[in-house]
Amino acid sequence: ERDLTDNVDWPVQCTVGPGLEGAIACETKIGYVNGAQGMLYYRGYNIFDLCAYSSFEETTYLLLHGRLPSQKELDSFKDVLRKNMFIPKTQRLLMTFPIEDMGPMASLRLGTNLMRQKQTYRDSDEQYYSTDSIASDEDSIAMETKPRGSEESRFEFMKRVMKRPASAAKNLVSAEEIESCYKLIAGVPSIAATIGRVREGHIPLEPLPDLSLAGNYLYMLTGRKPTRLEERVMDINLILHADHGMNASTFASLVVASTLSDIYFAIGSGIAALSGPLHGGANVEVVKMLETIGGPKKVASWYKKARGEGKKITGFGHRVYKSYDPRARILGPMAGLLAEENEQLRGLFDTATELEKQVIASLGSEKGIYPNVDFYSGIVYRSMGIPTDLYTTIFAVSRVAGWTSRVLEYLAHNRIFRPRAFYTGTLEEPYIPIDQR
Ligand code: ACO
Repeated sequence: ERDLTDNVDWPVQCTVGPGLEGAIACETKIGYVNGAQGMLYYRGYNIFDLCAYSSFEETTYLLLHGRLPSQKELDSFKDVLRKNMFIPKTQRLLMTFPIEDMGPMASLRLGTNLMRQKQTYRDSDEQYYSTDSIASDEDSIAMETKPRGSEESRFEFMKRVMKRPASAAKNLVSAEEIESCYKLIAGVPSIAATIGRVREGHIPLEPLPDLSLAGNYLYMLTGRKPTRLEERVMDINLILHADHGMNASTFASLVVASTLSDIYFAIGSGIAALSGPLHGGANVEVVKMLETIGGPKKVASWYKKARGEGKKITGFGHRVYKSYDPRARILGPMAGLLAEENEQLRGLFDTATELEKQVIASLGSEKGIYPNVDFYSGIVYRSMGIPTDLYTTIFAVSRVAGWTSRVLEYLAHNRIFRPRAFYTGTLEEPYIPIDQR
């Protein structure tokens, strides 16, 4: 392990500010963000090396298990993931919901609930139905539609939700929990792709045996086998977004897991937190903003007006990085390369680089405002023809690796999260009956 004591933000200064700025939530060996130097490490490995030499599957193994796998371990991990991408039952269930109207992130969150083993849900006839969606067994299980006694089903449901044994509090992470993590890491890409397909009126697809997780996500979304370049570009994207310190969605997952709720709930909470425009939702907003600006020549007047109105510029700034986000260092040039081939994309990319110049010139050294991970990723996704409002689901496809790794790490020494609030209200107010107010 590398000695971190020569890094500028070491030893850790713990001064807590609004938004828990500076607070230390837990110890971790999973990832390290050096905000001053703009460096990112997973398990001690530099993100630039992982993007150059690794794959999303290998990086996920590294995050989960703490070391790089042997070839044999990697091959069998890839097999497990591919098998768990096969979720026809969850796909069928998902199609019964109005996902066209729900929005992609809400649908994705719903999908993680539908993935639960032994699901119980209620249909429009107010009857309870039970289904079994152990992903690898899905091919052999026909959807069960036998109505059940509602009280019994509700009880079973509660038992399942509350099923974590007391032993979990004694630092045990069960094989079942690790299995659930594998299912989520493989299932979320399939759900995300299904959402994209179903919205366009297509039938969901099954994964192909000869594609990587990144390749299968693209194939299941578009119905077309990706080129090698597209598969690699998506793979690098997934590596880049896989983990990032104690960000809001990771923290949300940990808070839920710390109550000894289950991993599906924890990951669903991560998805919910990621969806906001201050977090992962920013990648959608950036592309909309670049389109609104309407070209590099219009950047100066747009930026002047936006700053005059006191607006924050989406895709810039970060709680931790006060220097250039290393992920944007990879995504920016990647977007540039892809834009070379595509006239329409070039307009978007040129607008982005012009905006970057102006923001850095005015806020870079003064406030440490630089592009973050979300500034260029949308242009990369646009090059593959992915609809704009699906971009945040791609972030989740990747980040589920980090969420699950950190949840497992935290559960091994679990203590419920329970911070305090500083009370600034009044006390002992006289209660006035309603007719006298
Ligand atoms: N544009 C202009 N100024 C900014 C920006 C921005 N995007 N971000 C921060 N600032 C300024 C603030 O106005 C503030 O200035 P002040 O000291 O004069 O008041 C200063 O920088 C500190 O900003 P905070 O809002 O306190 O920073 P915080 O750490 O709370 O927020 C956040 C971080 C949410 C990322 C913020 O920078 C932001 O809103 N950025 C735009 C949304 C975005 O791109 N989100 C994606 C982040 S990456 C991710 O989550 C995957």
